Amino acid sequence: MPRVLITRRLPPPAAERLVQAGLTVDLVDQDDPPPRAVLLERARGCAALITMLSERVDAELLDAAGSPLRVVANYAVGYNNIDLDACRVRGVRVTNTPGVLTEATADLTWALLLAAARRVVEGDRLMRTGTWSGWQPQQLLGLELHGAVLGLVGAGRIGAAVARRAAGFGMRILYTDPQPRAELDGPLRAQRVPLSELLPQVDVLSLHVPLTPQTRHLIGARELAQLKPTALLINTARGPVIDERALVAALRAGRLAAAGLDVYEEEPRLAPGLAELPNVVLLPHLGSATVTTRQRMSAMVADNVLGVLDGREPPNAVV
Ligand code: DGY
Repeated sequence: MPRVLITRRLPPPAAERLVQAGLTVDLVDQDDPPPRAVLLERARGCAALITMLSERVDAELLDAAGSPLRVVANYAVGYNNIDLDACRVRGVRVTNTPGVLTEATADLTWALLLAAARRVVEGDRLMRTGTWSGWQPQQLLGLELHGAVLGLVGAGRIGAAVARRAAGFGMRILYTDPQPRAELDGPLRAQRVPLSELLPQVDVLSLHVPLTPQTRHLIGARELAQLKPTALLINTARGPVIDERALVAALRAGRLAAAGLDVYEEEPRLAPGLAELPNVVLLPHLGSATVTTRQRMSAMVADNVLGVLDGREPPNAVV
């Protein structure tokens, strides 16, 4: 019976569906990432691995699984954790979970954006610490979103969903993307501009690019210096797209008003000083974390595994 390793507890229906299809499911029955040695051991002889974004899928893991391995189904839309070439040369298919998490991630981007713009966390802290002395004309003044400029770095599925929400807030939209996006240019009257032109104009910069060698530290000290000191930076893409130490320095020096982050350079660790800054809102990588979305992702990884193991083209092939 082909064996499938699921490297973490998942919402239904992945495990149930795979068992029903007659596969042997080996579940790492915990919420935290398994130690590498456990992963290597449990992968041995598996036909499929269902992996999370925090697991490195490289030659070592693929070789530990060995020749029965036919598919790595990542429980994420991003697949920067996977060495695609190493999969290709071994004839192992790779799949991801696109589409189903677009709206949830766009919602969370807006949760961070609104929290950072209107200083929600600072206000909440004031109330909980009992230090609020009453209404003041100049207390916790934030950014007025109506009429402000939103700059999107990356206008694919999630970037476009963030832009659609921005239209409801009366924001002007600029974006940088390798290709023009008719969905944004037409109905949203967004404008595509190079990054160097976008940075100095925006009130809110929101990142929606995959992590690749080209996007690593795309936003570093030089780019941060081009932003207005009143600007906000939001990241729900991948942590290493921002040079986190440069971000801490910019926020500390008042060269940027605030940041809202869901992802970090070295998850689960934060850059030194980040957590001490009052003007950052920090979430623990929750972009896709709704009940509906995580269940849809679960169904998708099962469909992808079953597709490959049945000899069909998987619905969401990356490789
Ligand atoms: C992804 O899918 O890439 C998210 O970061 C986690 O759901």
